[in-house]
Amino acid sequence: MKRLAILTSGGDAPGMNPAIRAAARVAIYRGCQVFGVKRGYAGLIAGDIEPMTPRSVGGIIQRGGTVLQTARSPEFRTEAGRLEALRKLNQAGIEGLVVIGGGGSLTGALELHRQGFPVVGVPATIDNDLAGTDMAIGVDTALNTALDAIDKIKDTASSHQRAFLVEVMGRDSGYLALMASIAGGAEYVVVPEVDTDLHRLALELRDAYVRGKTHAIVVVAEGAKYNAAAIDHFFKANQDQIGFETRVTTLGHIQRGGAPSAFDRILATRLGAAAVEELLRGASGVMVGLVHGEIKATSLESVLAQQKELDMQAYELGRILAQ
Ligand code: F6P
Repeated sequence: MKRLAILTSGGDAPGMNPAIRAAARVAIYRGCQVFGVKRGYAGLIAGDIEPMTPRSVGGIIQRGGTVLQTARSPEFRTEAGRLEALRKLNQAGIEGLVVIGGGGSLTGALELHRQGFPVVGVPATIDNDLAGTDMAIGVDTALNTALDAIDKIKDTASSHQRAFLVEVMGRDSGYLALMASIAGGAEYVVVPEVDTDLHRLALELRDAYVRGKTHAIVVVAEGAKYNAAAIDHFFKANQDQIGFETRVTTLGHIQRGGAPSAFDRILATRLGAAAVEELLRGASGVMVGLVHGEIKATSLESVLAQQKELDMQAYELGRILAQ
C-alpha cells in the first residue's frame, strides 16, 4: 500500500474538484491510502493534512473552486519553507504527491521532485499558458463565463450603439481573450503577444461605426500592454475618431468561479486519474496533459522551460471575421 497526497495550489480553476475526486478514488481503488493537503503549499508547511475517503470526495464533481482550498505561498518559495514541507510529508508517511495547479504550483512541484520527493503535476489554470497540454483544467469553463458576459454586453452595446472594452483574465497570455473574441464575434482583440497600435484600433472602430455597426466589442487581455482602462482613456481623448461612445467592463474573478463545464469535468477526471497512475508506476517530475486528444506525461522541466505560443492563425481568422 502507498500513501498518496493531493493538493491544489495557486489560483483556483473550475474543474479542480473533479480532478481531486478522480485522483482520490483511483488511488483508493488501487489500494492506496489517500490524504488531502489543505490550502496548497501553505497548508503543507503547516502540516494541514487529512485522510480522504471515497465519501469525502462525494458530491463535488459539479462544484467550482477547490474543496481542499488553495493559496499562493511565499514561504514555499524559500529553501526553509520547502524543507519544512518535505519534513511534514515525511512525518505523515506520504510517499507521493499530486499537485493540481498552474505554473507557480508546478514550479513548486519540480522543486520537490528535485529534492527526491515523488510528485506528479496536473495543469489547472484558466490562463491556458502551460506547455505540455492543449487545454488546462478550467479554461473551457472560464471561456464560457467570459462568453456569457460578452453576449450580454452586446445586448446593451447594440441598444446604445456603444463600443465596449471587455477585459478578461489570462495573466501574460492572450489565449482566453483571443478565444473569447472569436466565440463572441468581437470586433477586435488586444493581446500581449501582438503589438496594438491604438490609433489604428481607433480608426478600425471608426470604420465599423461608419459601416453602420450597432456595437463594437473589443476584448482586452489583462496582460496586454494597454489595459481596458488605458485604451478607454485614449478613446475618450480622441472621441471624434471613434464615433461610438465607450464603456469598460472588467470581468475579473467571475471567470474563475462557477460549475465546471462538461469538458472540464471530463478533462479533470482523466488527468486526475492519470496523475495517480503515473505516480504508481514510479514516475516523478512530470505533468500529465492533453496532447492531440490523448493523455500524455511531459517532464516538468520541459513544461516550465517553454512559453506557450498564441495561435496566430486563429488571431488572423478573428481579424477577417470582424467585418
Ligand atoms: O492564474 C489565474 C489568474 O486568475 C490570472 O488570470 C490572474 O492574473 C491571476 O490569477 C489573479 O490572481 P489573484 O486571484 O491572486 O488576484
